[in-house]
Amino acid sequence: MSRIARGGRYSLDAFRHQALGEVGSTNTECLARARQGDPGNLWVTATRQTAGRGRRGRSWASEPGNLYASLLLIDPAPPERLGSLPLAVALAVHGALRSVLPPGAEALEIKWPNDVLIGRKKSCGILLEGEGLAQGRRALVAGIGINIRFRPEDGPYGVTSLQEQGSDISAEELFSHLYREMAEVLVLWDEGRAVAAITERWRSVACGIGEPIRVNLPDRSIDGRFAGIDDRGLLLLDTQHGTMPIAAGDVFFL
Ligand code: BTN
Repeated sequence: MSRIARGGRYSLDAFRHQALGEVGSTNTECLARARQGDPGNLWVTATRQTAGRGRRGRSWASEPGNLYASLLLIDPAPPERLGSLPLAVALAVHGALRSVLPPGAEALEIKWPNDVLIGRKKSCGILLEGEGLAQGRRALVAGIGINIRFRPEDGPYGVTSLQEQGSDISAEELFSHLYREMAEVLVLWDEGRAVAAITERWRSVACGIGEPIRVNLPDRSIDGRFAGIDDRGLLLLDTQHGTMPIAAGDVFFL
């Protein structure tokens, strides 16, 4: 039986989609709807964002031609089971890109925790944001920007686009793949219970396991060897002082 059979919490028909033109940020739109009582499982897409947000307070340049999509989830799992959600979202994006890349495209991999790379260049950005709501509910938004025609510069990383990789897919068509892949991954994720299944799938497409890396933490950088991820999804860094589990940081291959 299909994992996304009708009627489940994350069956294909359990999601709604609102396609917008120009907005500030699709993440902001989702959070506003959550405050107004939206029950969740809502996708918001836009053709252009005027105030797109990236990680660490950066902006996300959002010209027409790329995909800008956010998924609103309400109480997707108890807080202690949310740790693997960023990995699950990256797997959904990875699956969508795998479906649309032509055979000659460069390697499609995930850099910890959730950068999807093509030929080691960043092809998308993922920003998860949460907010407490009335009556103890919690909104979680997974915002996804995928470079189709336009390559926003992103600091020290190399950047690519689907067009550069030989794909002329439209944002609408790419979104239909993302919609399906996300539903499948959320069923597999099982409200955060199936961390082992998510981490196993993540390892199979991981970029750079065994290689020397630098991890930038808020207060310092640490060099070591990327030993993989543990069963909670934490990065394991082999250093001369032993193996360090790391929950958040920016990874650079050396
Ligand atoms: C990153 O810095 O890598 C994350 C970028 C996330 C961008 C997406 S585009 C859709 C959604 N809306 C936003 O304002 N940001 C996310």
